Amino acid sequence: MRVIVVNNYEEGAVAGADIIEKLVRSNPECTLGLATGSSPVGMYKELSRRCREEGLDFSKVHSVNLDEYVGLEGTHDQSYRYFMDTNLFDHINIDKANTYVAKGVGDAEENLKEFNAVLAKTDIDLQVLGVGPDGHLGFNEPGDVLWDHAHMETLDESTIDANQRFFASRDDVPRRAFTMGMGDIMKAKTLLMIISGNKQDAATKLLMNEMIDPHCPATFMRMHRDAIVIIEKKLADQIGYKG
Ligand code: GLP
Repeated sequence: MRVIVVNNYEEGAVAGADIIEKLVRSNPECTLGLATGSSPVGMYKELSRRCREEGLDFSKVHSVNLDEYVGLEGTHDQSYRYFMDTNLFDHINIDKANTYVAKGVGDAEENLKEFNAVLAKTDIDLQVLGVGPDGHLGFNEPGDVLWDHAHMETLDESTIDANQRFFASRDDVPRRAFTMGMGDIMKAKTLLMIISGNKQDAATKLLMNEMIDPHCPATFMRMHRDAIVIIEKKLADQIGYKG
């Protein structure tokens, strides 16, 4: 696991954008696995700038997203489809037909079948990841066992608490989500995690322990042969990470 310690959020955004730019320039037809959350927003903004001002070309890039809330239409301002459109896709020259975010509404079984079919025919070159305060990846919540493939997950109370800031009230936070499974994530050629915010517990388990712990899905990063973690110095210092 390669750990990049950055001075602040903006530096993390640039470091992440550098890694994605290198991939897109060397393989313009690559497939990106994308994530939502506040951690990658700065990186998406920087990639949008590079597309606009420096000709970084996404016209042949494909993407597939980690997860989507069950029950939210893609036009809902808290759906992950809407997040991706407004934070990235609307600002770069990607063909939206080549972007996939699981459908949140309609027949759940059909939606999952479609999600799994897309993943089965997709080789993800680089998967962007954030981490939940409880260590979840995508919406793979901690537990004694974890799922291999895309599935429907019931959100932990702590995840509902963490995500309520985006909704009018806690009651409005969807209780269920579709998410790639851990196997889907681990199959990506490269994993790129950006850790920002109050993630002391998850960061400690990931960077300071040697255990692979299903109660902290983020620790599975340790098993991957090309995993990169970008972490802010303040958080690295808090958990005593020395590099
Ligand atoms: C949500 C997403 C995760 C994301 C997490 C952390 O729960 N499903 O994929 O990593 O939020 O988000 P943030 O980056 O805002 O802390």
